[in-house]
Amino acid sequence: MMSFIPEDKILEIKNRADIVDVVSEFVQVKGVGRNFIGLCPFHSEKTPSFTVSSEKQIFYCFGCGTGGNVFSFLMKIEGLSFPEAVRRLARRYGVQIPTVSLSSEQKRRLNEREELFSINRTAMEFFHHTLLHDKAGRKALDYLRDRQISDQAIQDFRLGFAPEGWDNLARYFFQKRLSPSLVEKTGLIVPRKNSSGYYDRFRNRIMFPILNLNMQVIGFGGRVMDDGTPKYLNSPESPIYNKSRSLYGLHLARQPCRNTGTVYIVEGYFDLLRLHQFGVENSVATLGTALTEEHVRLLKGYAQRVILVFDSDAAGLRAARRSIDIFMKQEMEAQVLVLPSGHDPDSFLLQHGLEQFKESSEKALGIIPFLIESAVKDHGLSVEGKIRITNDIIQPIMAIRDSVARSLYIKMLSERIGVNESAIMEKARQVTAQSRGKTFGSLRETDRQTIFQPGGQKQPGEIRFERHIVAMMLQFPEMIQEVEERNLLNYFTDATLKTIGQMIITHQQKSVSEIIDLMEDKRLQSISAGLAMGEEVWNREGCIKLMDQFEKSRKRQEDDLLEKIKQAESSKDDVLLLKLLKQKQVEVTSR
Ligand code: CTP
Ligand code: MN
Repeated sequence: MMSFIPEDKILEIKNRADIVDVVSEFVQVKGVGRNFIGLCPFHSEKTPSFTVSSEKQIFYCFGCGTGGNVFSFLMKIEGLSFPEAVRRLARRYGVQIPTVSLSSEQKRRLNEREELFSINRTAMEFFHHTLLHDKAGRKALDYLRDRQISDQAIQDFRLGFAPEGWDNLARYFFQKRLSPSLVEKTGLIVPRKNSSGYYDRFRNRIMFPILNLNMQVIGFGGRVMDDGTPKYLNSPESPIYNKSRSLYGLHLARQPCRNTGTVYIVEGYFDLLRLHQFGVENSVATLGTALTEEHVRLLKGYAQRVILVFDSDAAGLRAARRSIDIFMKQEMEAQVLVLPSGHDPDSFLLQHGLEQFKESSEKALGIIPFLIESAVKDHGLSVEGKIRITNDIIQPIMAIRDSVARSLYIKMLSERIGVNESAIMEKARQVTAQSRGKTFGSLRETDRQTIFQPGGQKQPGEIRFERHIVAMMLQFPEMIQEVEERNLLNYFTDATLKTIGQMIITHQQKSVSEIIDLMEDKRLQSISAGLAMGEEVWNREGCIKLMDQFEKSRKRQEDDLLEKIKQAESSKDDVLLLKLLKQKQVEVTSR
């Protein structure tokens, strides 16, 4: 499991992998000029600014400024570490990574995450084995069969049983000589408060292992088999487990979601098992938390449409309402399926069967109609009620970007509550006028600024020069040597651009995409990708001119400073002199 990835293997994988190929799994891109463009998966947008260069093997979004190479892309979109991304591509492109055995100390330092995954996997197999082949698991198996969970589902989801007793798993791990403090990080064992040693977190519970898209075990949920509390116990967040970006069942749902373009989101483990068992495989469950923006962003890579399935209770409705904002923001089509009172997807399917479930899904309301209906339910159709309903609904309607959709929903609201359309429009105008005052200047603009003007407060003119020179080095590598010989980077005022420039010089023989791998700072990766992506036409004379101009402008500034210093000296203005000398010193030390 655990291994170190040799440098040449990383290079080999890189040479075989094609970024356009990999990106296409998540984003629909089409060829435009020398690049491919599509809708950015990292921020929501209507017009494509996400750009992939096959030739340079990099991507860059001109909207949000995220960029990098094939590894950074996978890391970002799937939440992987660098070695995980490398392994993923190795598998995909059939590159064998030799296993180098390491001492346990080296192993631990090299990649704790991998170790934690492996511990969780061991636990998963322990629980699964106990459920199926140990007599301690008998009652758990009976419980599952009683709830009509099939043997196939038990296999597919690797369900298990954590036996009764305080330290079955802890002892099992210690026999395997695993470091308790490491195992503790998975949350599977907990240190005893008053004495030494550890006890098992999960005892006498049905176990649901949670897998990520790499089929790594990131955590567990455990259910009691009676009325005990808490009903569910979950792994705590850990270096490998983040609930707000994990979804139960996604590892099995991914392909079915792609095939159908739709994903069902339910709340419970059993709900998910039931849907899967009934053949509705394009389903995932949240893990005892509210749906987050990260969840939706993740799902966007696999489906265009979400059907939220909620229990009819008030909490479900609240949850539905809360997640609606997220879908609006992410511009993902979403529908809400509220089950008849007293049912969750599990019980509904058991009682009414697949046909009826499908029928109800077809009738699932879109976001706005759902909001309208629940507002009507909340406030009633009295005069007061209608005012409240309009207040509730107008904001979400105005949040819709598509103007046709917007006016259709206004019409729908008007008809549903019997209020004149033009009165609603008037209200809408008021609301947008107010909110425009607040959010003038979109987030995207500010993002753009921080990306394109690293260092912020400095003079844009200089930075523009420096950016241009680094872009030239990336896009027209013939000039790198000239930049080096002229020592141009020494005149740079922007530290970020200087760092990037230095890396380009140090690794002259490497491609942009390779240099990006050497950057630990994601911001550097993005900026470099952005600068490399340009489509300028370069020629030698133009480049020489650019460099001459830059040198001249920097010299002039330096001369100006020297001149000012001289004047301050002769006029004995010590305060000014000190200030100027400081400025000069900054310039000198920045060389
Ligand atoms: N949950 C949790 N902790 C709890 C209760 C619930 O994490 N103490 C999460 C679990 O992921 C659970 C989901 O919320 O699956 C829904 O909870 P609930 O509706 O109470 O349980 P069901 O999934 O319906 O489980 P069952 O059918 O076994 O009652
Ligand atoms: Mn249930």
